[in-house]
Amino acid sequence: MKKVLLGSVMLVATSVSATPFEKPEDAIHYRQSAFTMIAANFGDMAEMVKGRKDWDQAAFSQRAQFISQLSLMPEEAFEVPGSDQGDTKAKPEIWTDWDGFTVKLNKFQIDMAKLAKVSVEGDERATKRAFGVAAKNCKSCHSDYKFR
Ligand code: HEC
Repeated sequence: MKKVLLGSVMLVATSVSATPFEKPEDAIHYRQSAFTMIAANFGDMAEMVKGRKDWDQAAFSQRAQFISQLSLMPEEAFEVPGSDQGDTKAKPEIWTDWDGFTVKLNKFQIDMAKLAKVSVEGDERATKRAFGVAAKNCKSCHSDYKFR
């Protein structure tokens, strides 16, 4: 009895974790939301780096942690069949060149994790340098994989 129950629980868990999205539109909305949050945090960090806003290492670091986590979220939403159509700026190249796309996505995730780590350590110059490296990822991916 216990085994059967365990089996059915595991089955349910598997189908739930396969995708949290009911429709392709949900996946599109989800990944756009993640990028919107990434951009809001990144924009604030850029203001500090450019000196338009007072440098605050702790606030900067908090945003870097946020983006590091957020950068892990879009990928599964691009995997949803049909999400290449509709209200999306994603280029078809994402799916025809999935390996190229995920290489860029993974590099972004790694650079953001590095930035999060460096910023926690508290060295302002090293943090700004890591930000410069991380910032290149946005344009690099958008020029190949996102319509303007
Ligand atoms: C690996 C590729 C990749 C990287 C790296 C990336 N983006 Fe994007 N971004 C996309 C794609 C693809 C879309 C289009 C998603 C859609 O419309 O379905 C997008 C959409 C967006 C949007 C629009 C969201 C909306 O509501 O339509 C913003 C803003 C954005 N990205 C900002 C950024 C910023 C800022 C960075 C860097 C800190 C970044 N992105 C890094 C691929 C990327």
